[in-house]
Amino acid sequence: MKRIALLPNHVAIVPDGNGRWAEQHGLPRLEGHQAGAENMRRMVEYLNEYPIKYVTLYGFSTENWSRPEDEVRGLFQLLGEFIDKCVSEFYENGIKLRHLGRLNELPQNLQQTINRAAELTKNNTRMTLGLAFNYGGRAEIIDAVRCLVAEGIPPQNIDEILFNNYLYTAGLPDVDLLIRTGDELRLSNFLIWQTAYSEYYFTDVLWPDFDKKEVEKALIAYSQRKRRFGGLQRGKKGNRVNSITPGNT
Ligand code: IPE
Ligand code: MG
Repeated sequence: MKRIALLPNHVAIVPDGNGRWAEQHGLPRLEGHQAGAENMRRMVEYLNEYPIKYVTLYGFSTENWSRPEDEVRGLFQLLGEFIDKCVSEFYENGIKLRHLGRLNELPQNLQQTINRAAELTKNNTRMTLGLAFNYGGRAEIIDAVRCLVAEGIPPQNIDEILFNNYLYTAGLPDVDLLIRTGDELRLSNFLIWQTAYSEYYFTDVLWPDFDKKEVEKALIAYSQRKRRFGGLQRGKKGNRVNSITPGNT
């Protein structure tokens, strides 16, 4: 483990490039997703070596439903297996699992797997691992607005702190570092509210190849960024602000 001066509190990852990795290796796409799922496990293990409190992984987006049915089914199968294989290890290592997204649209057995894992690990405090399965940033905002309206919250009571509490990520801090692999320079509807002031790290490395060395590069790049949150640079290096989260500064 490298010593890094300034670590992010919340790392969010868009693991892209499984399909291209499979193609490079002459394998079917699902083998790429399998390698990607294995890498998710390793990545959580690496990140858990650091005092990083929150990690969120984009496993399946609300837009991924438009992929061929076989691939969608295969992805759900792999995500379920990923949880089943890792849950006891996560439990032992102090990791709390939390689902982010529209759970009720997922297959029944995957819902059960997720719920069981969340229940088992709910008292863990070392790290919270957000699993964004069937997650969409716009859907999240719509769902929050629906809840606010259904509860009859008076408009003048709605501010950023309150709104935050209606998102799937209620209680989680804003994202500090957003990593996207696979040579795509976009956010793709991931945590669009929570990344308003995040630092972005893009790499052309395909997700199954994004290893410990690569994630260390991302963490080092983050530690060298100067975050100002719309203000002015305050003082010298040591005076940098690491995170802004309503109610959590
Ligand atoms: C990311 O890999 C995995 C998911 C979106 C679930 P892709 O499947 O998007 O891989 P490429 O972009 O085709 O290489
Ligand atoms: Mg892709």
